[in-house]
Amino acid sequence: MPMYRTHYSSQISEELDGEKIKVAGWVYEVKDLGGIKFLWIRDREGIIQITAPKKKVDPELFKIIPHLNAEDVVAVEGIVNFTPKAKLGFEIIPEKLEILSKAQSPLPLDPSGKVKAELDTRLDNRFMDLRRPDVMAIFKIRSNVFKAVREFFYSEKFVEIHTPKIIATATEGGTELFPMKYFEEDAFLAQSPQLYKQIMMASGLDRVFEIAPIFRAEEHNTTRHLNEAWSIDAEMAFIENEEEVMGLLERLVTYAVKYIKEHNERELEILGMELEVPKLPLRRISYTDALEILNDLGKEIPWGEDIDTEGERLLGSYIKEEYGEDLYFLYQYPSEAKPFYIMKYDNKPEISRSFDLEYRGIEITSGGQREHRYDILKAQIAEKGLKVESFEFYLKPFRYGMPPHGGFGLGAERLIKQMLNLPNIREVILFPRDRKRLTP
Ligand code: 4AD
Repeated sequence: MPMYRTHYSSQISEELDGEKIKVAGWVYEVKDLGGIKFLWIRDREGIIQITAPKKKVDPELFKIIPHLNAEDVVAVEGIVNFTPKAKLGFEIIPEKLEILSKAQSPLPLDPSGKVKAELDTRLDNRFMDLRRPDVMAIFKIRSNVFKAVREFFYSEKFVEIHTPKIIATATEGGTELFPMKYFEEDAFLAQSPQLYKQIMMASGLDRVFEIAPIFRAEEHNTTRHLNEAWSIDAEMAFIENEEEVMGLLERLVTYAVKYIKEHNERELEILGMELEVPKLPLRRISYTDALEILNDLGKEIPWGEDIDTEGERLLGSYIKEEYGEDLYFLYQYPSEAKPFYIMKYDNKPEISRSFDLEYRGIEITSGGQREHRYDILKAQIAEKGLKVESFEFYLKPFRYGMPPHGGFGLGAERLIKQMLNLPNIREVILFPRDRKRLTP
């Protein structure tokens, strides 16, 4: 028998009636009714009631219970008693109680969530914030999102790779980099595995994915940006066009939503969230059509400019109202709005083979088909005003057999935030790094 815990609260079922078990967790509440004392313990899965009638329990143990503080860590051994009198349908009559760790009082925040705390206070005390079932539910779901994503990629014959996070060149345009010293040289934290996952397309691995942090020195403080985020990146070779990549991405996101709906029923209930598995194929709206919709909604964006946050939000509500859909693609962006590595349409070079996936009016992914033809790629680097020499390590593989390829970067936090319809991206990452947060 394990020393402290044989069962989580969720594992106590009627077959255990009359059995001796061990439970452990944090003191949730204590009630002293004189001849009977109650103790509620919270563990990862829920709450357990310990009932101590004076006549039935050890006198020492009976005395200890009223002196317990909220959030003390305790382990209890006792007999399971299924009774309609207990609120949860069962109680434990304790035989032994051990205090494993005391909690000071007052607490930095109320783990029951009854007393509301500001997000900053919650993040400063994240360990205790996670004791709230709704907060813990988010991280149980996050864990399963990553599990589902891996499962999906393996089932589609992708190989997991790991590329360097200390790099010498920018990938996404040269801005938003965190500089660092690498011995005598200047280096940066990686904004994206973009160049390395593309290099892998010349290796013959054909289909690769990586799940890793990306670092972006974004100055702005918004509810959708982090300075350290987790990116789910994929790259695939021998594609005919960007449509094949969009197909992969929509299957991936649908798989993840379905997985959470099926495996996290309890967590979704705690969050009061009902998930809808989207029907495939997802709607595809070209950039030009999106501008027209926005124009009709009274928002003018000149052709060539990026669709801003407000534009995205307007489109999101329009598509929800018009078609009842949360997820959709925006594609065929102007080439000038996209990075150098994106392929342009040969017959219409002002348009690129790029796409974004939008979830409830926020971009969660961008991707596209890449330019794999060496001379054109080199010209595109120069066209963006970048130094071709700095890209030699990246360009070299394109001279020795590079198949046509494409891929995407899916922001894990954006995906989870939008899936659960949460107001702030900081809710879905344990210790957010933002403009002001470097600790904890
Ligand atoms: O749109 P981005 O910058 O595209 C790339 O990094 C490309 N290399 C992807 C590709 O394969 N073509 O970033 C991709 C996604 C965004 O859609 C967003 O979900 C997430 O990464 N992301 C962020 N998430 C949180 N905070 C930030 N500061 C983010 N920056 C990007």
